[in-house]
Order: sequence, then C-alpha cells, then structure tokens
Amino acid sequence: MKILGIESSCDETAAGIVEDGRILLANVVASSMELHAQYGGVVPEIAARSHIEAIIPTIQAALTQANCTWGDIDGIAVTYGAGLGGSLLIGTMTARTLAITKNKPLYAVNHVEGHVYANFLTETSLPGYTLPQKQPGFPLLALIVSGGHSQLVLFRDHFDYTLLGQTRDDAIGEAFDKVAKIIGLPYPGGPSVSKKALEGSPYAFTLPKAKLDDTYAFSFSGLKTAVLRLAQAQIGQDFTFPSTKLPERLSEAQKADIAAVFQRVAVETVVDKTILAYEEFRPKSVVIAGGVAANEDLRRQLAERLPISIAYTDIKLCTDNGAMMATLGCFKALHNQPIADPYSLGISPNLSM
Ligand code: KG4
Ligand code: ZN
Repeated sequence: MKILGIESSCDETAAGIVEDGRILLANVVASSMELHAQYGGVVPEIAARSHIEAIIPTIQAALTQANCTWGDIDGIAVTYGAGLGGSLLIGTMTARTLAITKNKPLYAVNHVEGHVYANFLTETSLPGYTLPQKQPGFPLLALIVSGGHSQLVLFRDHFDYTLLGQTRDDAIGEAFDKVAKIIGLPYPGGPSVSKKALEGSPYAFTLPKAKLDDTYAFSFSGLKTAVLRLAQAQIGQDFTFPSTKLPERLSEAQKADIAAVFQRVAVETVVDKTILAYEEFRPKSVVIAGGVAANEDLRRQLAERLPISIAYTDIKLCTDNGAMMATLGCFKALHNQPIADPYSLGISPNLSM
C-alpha cells in the first residue's frame, strides 16, 4: 500500500510517499519561507501563489525520489484543513484533479492529526533521517505543538480520540514567533529563539505561568506580554516604550537571557500538563508533534520527566511535510475509512481535532 500525501496548508508545498503507514519512501518540501521573511510572517496571498508554482514539480520530485510511477501509487491523501484558505485550495484542487485523471482513491486528511502520524514512520532508505525503532502503541498521548495549535489529545486507537485540552489564545509556536519579533530575531521565530537561548541563562529572570481552572487548557498570550514588559524593563523603560524599537536597544546578552527564560517557561508549561495527563491516563506511549516538536529543550525536558521512554521522530518530519499526511492516508486506507469525492471535496480552514 503506497500513498502519496500532499500538504499545502501554510507556506510549505510538500509531497511525500509512504508504504504501509511505516516506510518513508519520499519527502519533498518546497518552502516559500524566504519570500515571507521580509514581512516577518506568512503572507497568505504570496503563499498561495507559491503553491501554484511549486506543487506539480514537488509531486514529481517525490515520485522520482521514491522511484515510483503513478502505477505504483494506491491512493492520494491531501490536507483539507486546518490552514490558510488559499493555500489549502491549491493542494486540494491538485489532489482532486490527480485522483480523477490517475483514477486513485482520495483521502481527505486533517493537518493536525497528520502531525501525530509523523511518529509512525519507522523505516527508510532515504539518507539523513533518524526514525524511532517501533511505532507508538495505544492508548497514545499526543502533545501537539505548532504555529497554530497547542493541544493534548488521547488516542484510544486509530481514529478514536479525545481532545483533552487546547490553547485559549496563542499557540506555543506563535508565542515563539512573537517573542522573536520583540527581541529582533529573524523569522521563523522558533528556531531563532532556541538558537539564541543557547547563549543565555534560563534562570536569569522569572516569568509567570498561566494558571487556568481547566487542567489541560493552555494560554500563551500572558507569557508573550510578560516578555514584552521584561524587555522594556531591561532597558529601563515602561510599558509605553514601542516594541519595534526594543531590538536596537537590547544587548545581545539581554536578548539571549530573554530567549532562554522564555523558552524554559514555555516548554515547562506544556511539559507540566503532559506529565499530568500521563499520570491521569497512563497511556502506553507519548508522542510530540508539530513544528515546536523540533525544539531540543522540549525533547530534553520531556525525556527527563516522563516515567516511560519517549522516541522522537526526525526534525524534518516535525515541521509541515507531505510524508506525515501520506502516513495518515495509509492508515485511513488500511482501516477502511471513508474515501473523499474528488468532484466535490471542499476545504475546511478552521478544522479542529
Ligand atoms: O507545524 P508547523 O511547521 O506549522 C504549523 O502547522 O503551524 O509549525 C511551525 C511553528 C512555528 O511557530 C515555528 O516557529 C515553530 O513551529 N518551530 C519551533 C522550532 N522549529 C519550528 N519552535 C521552537 N523551537 C524550534 N526548534
Ligand atoms: Zn503544521
């Protein structure tokens, strides 16, 4: 069973090919990130235009990398939500057209669920990938941390899950991106904040953790504001000082300490709740998923505090990619999940778990 996965929900145009929900055959990602960097964030119109240019060459490159022809492909999985409307439209229209012209079953897949399935890839002959040795078992607790989501989800089995809690405001990746802006680090903020944090002291200051009545809910907007106030205080100014002028006034050492303290507190927040969920539900395995799962501090803190061992997938499979969507597509096919109608499949920009 070989499935082609197509992903275009944000600024990455991606295609991957996966066999039996386990073997990674191809993973090709074309990113329009440099085009957005000058604006400090993803510009939806530019992302959609870039997808139009990149999508066919990306799919072709995936087929070549997997050494496959269309005859070898058993089905197509495509992200239909959540994401940017214009971006999702390019991926779904392409997948629908290919499903009709190549006569393949079409699987509509949820982007956030796809991130979790990156953890099911255990084999590949592609160079440069470090994968877990075995697939996670059920019940499975997933911590989903990306630019758009912060969620804890308990999977009893494939396609049988409960959302335990999610963020009430900003996602954790969004907080990394906003903090990067405050201290003048380049977009995308997650990798630049974690790189800068290596030079700083994670205990240089204290920052507040949100206290919520709902055990598994998250909130990151207060932390982001606390970072802004901390940066203003560091240069001897009050809350009226414009945030856009902070980067030129902060020293490199101050930026590094702010990055390190923010990262520690943001990561501790999600790790604390993951440990609470582990203790309540005693899952067989715990996985992390989404762009922030690439964060080394998160990986270290979780491995230290969880009573069971945790395996992490390759960092290239944490940020948006087509292989994770192909993996989810394989499991849909293997578990006889409904097939989408290629003549009518729509997009769902606000799709949730
Ligand atoms: O999953 P993803 O590629 O796209 C969404 O579905 O949102 O996640 C992107 C997010 C961005 O906010 C980015 O700053 C963050 O993941 N990110 C990181 C790291 N690498 C990417 N955050 C913290 N540390 C990292 N190393
Ligand atoms: Zn994503």
